[in-house]
Amino acid sequence: MSAPLAMVDPAGEYRQLKEEIDAAVLRVLASGRYILGPEGEALEKELASYTGAAHAVGVNSGTDALHLALVAAGVGPGDEVVVPAFTFFASAEAVSYTGATPVFCDIELASFNIDPPSFEKSLTARTKALIAVHLFGRCARLPELVSICKERNIVLIEDCAQSLGADHAGRRGGSWGAFGCFSFYPTKNLGAAGDAGLVTTSSAARAETLRMLRHHGSRKTYLHERVGWNSRLDELQAAVLRVKLRHLERFNAARVRISQRYRERLKDANVILPSEPTDGRHAWHQFTIRSERRDAIREALAAEGIASSVFYPIPLHRQPAYEPANRGRSLPAAEEAARTVLSLPIHPLLEDGAVARIAEVVRSAA
Ligand SMILES: Cc1ncc(COP(=O)(O)O)c(C=O)c1O
Repeated sequence: MSAPLAMVDPAGEYRQLKEEIDAAVLRVLASGRYILGPEGEALEKELASYTGAAHAVGVNSGTDALHLALVAAGVGPGDEVVVPAFTFFASAEAVSYTGATPVFCDIELASFNIDPPSFEKSLTARTKALIAVHLFGRCARLPELVSICKERNIVLIEDCAQSLGADHAGRRGGSWGAFGCFSFYPTKNLGAAGDAGLVTTSSAARAETLRMLRHHGSRKTYLHERVGWNSRLDELQAAVLRVKLRHLERFNAARVRISQRYRERLKDANVILPSEPTDGRHAWHQFTIRSERRDAIREALAAEGIASSVFYPIPLHRQPAYEPANRGRSLPAAEEAARTVLSLPIHPLLEDGAVARIAEVVRSAA
């Protein structure tokens, strides 16, 4: 059997950038400044500039980014927040932390992203915010969502955990809504060596609120204006992220190339390929096919030592944590996606030969 193929290769990325990362980590260790220092501040500036948002505030994780953005938006008990039913659990979990209710809406199967008409149908007098997830690296329909949110006075929060570098019509995700929430979980397009996250916003006042919330509700030492959290992005993670950010465009370009190779090799296979945006850049965090034979394809890949993943097997309205409040609710596209999706390995270090090998197994099992 040939060498096993994993979904991701964070250790490989480290080996490729070892000199730069080691130097950055040692610089922080020698500085004695480990929390809220120059690395975090520089990363915030660099990511604000990269995304095109005016401000960026580092936090402890993507989940915290969503949670603190919701709190900064004034979301709380009695409010409803619309969330697509097909996403990672944290997109809704963050809403529950605030005491508000996540209201699930359906997706468009072609993009795996929120379906604007289903979003509009989910609105009530209590709807305070929308979490628009840019799933698998593709921006949701931002112009339509922005316009509905404006008209209905709803706070648009972009969940950009999987989409750093993606854009719509040349404008990057994270710069459209009131807040953009990013995760640097190690397997993300920009991955830390641990947990880390960040919130972007165009408003200086909101950025200041976020800085206070992440630091025990404090702006001035030992003066606590409100109850906050300890959710700071530490200096070691910031230093690692700054190195990797310098290579992000190259790494995302490699993802685009791999997605094209898959497309060529699978064009007449009996699977549904992920569609591409016509007016924007996909960050290809995942390459997700659909098939009625999903489980058989998965087994055939596993038999060849090739990893694959089902992101996500259970839509959120069917998760045990949310099912009781959503009993009988039908969201057909989210359910269909959960039943048929399969994500294939895609990461910057995946070689064309490996893509060919994976595609061959998919073709014969499909
Ligand atoms: C869509 C989405 N939202 C939120 C999160 C939460 O990010 P984190 O794991 O950094 O808390 C993730 C990632 O895991 C994600 O994929």
